[in-house]
Amino acid sequence: MIINSIKNIKGNVCVPGDKSISHRAIMLGALSKGITNIKGFLMGEDCLSTISCFREMGITIDIDDSLVTVHGKGLHGLKKPNKELYVGNSGTTLRLLSGLLAPQEFDCILTGDDSIKSRPMRRIIEPLTKMGANIVSIGNNDKAPLKITGSNLHNITYESLVSSAQVKSCIILASLYTENETKIIEPALSRNHTELMLNYFGGNITIHDSTIISTPVAELYGKDIIVPGDISSAAFLIVACLITKNSELLIRDVGINPTRDGIIRVLKSMNANISLLNEKVINGELVADIKVKSSNLKGTIIDKDIIPTLIDEIPVIAVAACFAEGKTIIKDAAELKVKESNRIEAMVTELSKMNADILATEDGMIISHSPQLTGTTVNSYNDHRVAMSLAVAGLAAQGTTEILDSSCIDISFPSFYDLLKNISNL
Ligand code: S3P
Repeated sequence: MIINSIKNIKGNVCVPGDKSISHRAIMLGALSKGITNIKGFLMGEDCLSTISCFREMGITIDIDDSLVTVHGKGLHGLKKPNKELYVGNSGTTLRLLSGLLAPQEFDCILTGDDSIKSRPMRRIIEPLTKMGANIVSIGNNDKAPLKITGSNLHNITYESLVSSAQVKSCIILASLYTENETKIIEPALSRNHTELMLNYFGGNITIHDSTIISTPVAELYGKDIIVPGDISSAAFLIVACLITKNSELLIRDVGINPTRDGIIRVLKSMNANISLLNEKVINGELVADIKVKSSNLKGTIIDKDIIPTLIDEIPVIAVAACFAEGKTIIKDAAELKVKESNRIEAMVTELSKMNADILATEDGMIISHSPQLTGTTVNSYNDHRVAMSLAVAGLAAQGTTEILDSSCIDISFPSFYDLLKNISNL
């Protein structure tokens, strides 16, 4: 992808559907009785991997333009797949499916691409094993591929060391097949889309601070879902607008669930001119239009409990921080090292090539005001969020920025480049 510096951004747009919610709509739709119609489903590679895994397990899923219809078969309707389930690059598919497959009456193997095979799976193997699951890392390295042999599971109380919605959701899905309530305690609350959607489908989940209690129910029932725009995708456009002069943008119908809106809170604390309009609740999820204007940003400290609410946005927040007066310190974010790439190393290495004043720390980064970025050739590490963050940096850098291996943006935001082109003025 080639990005040239632009004058400004003007527009009124929508971003593609939320990735986390799209995955869950397929999964919970498949486990429900009856039909689930999904509007605004994200047609990105990760969510298409989830669809193909469920088709492999006998679920009929129709795709008609932007409408996805899942013909659910109830909690006990999945069939043994004829081959390994391939999740591609999708950590959400792999970890959530592990929880769902552990209590089935069949065995199967879950695998994916090289990135997925390098990501830590101990975090799900441990709690599932405590529940009585038979789940084995085939390479004996706590990584995928995983072999899961269906077993009877029992409820547990689990105190997680990491705030991870993938770990929490994995345990919640497994808990649907136990007899009593399962309790999960997180260090800080991670995104709660599984909990909200399960309750919407007739499940029984309660949340008290960062403790989640899942009580099994006899059946879930399919319902229509409208997927809001993904705040993680909107984040790239928001930052692009903030750091280019005389820009103004309206992004309509974006999910602003409080477990995901950390980027808005942080950018506002950095003096960003952002307002939320038309707030409403759609299938349990808070949605709003986001209005953004170019702003003179100031540095800040980002740490502790807010981190899980903006974990995927930190690469583009690092770009915003280059344009913020003073220093921005990001701490307590070691999870960034085990995402699709090591996002601390990736952003520090590549933004440094563009002349940013940025340092890696053990659990984050320190970024000093460096508004004179220069375009050059940078690596995406095959990580969609790194590629798009560097593209945003390129818009405000002098000259031309070339992002290598940029087709990875198809994971979460296939229309990114075209949308950016439409709203950019040269
Ligand atoms: C996701 C949870 C987060 C996030 C990922 C999507 C989800 O991962 O980074 O992009 O849909 O549950 P962790 O749960 O590992 O933090």
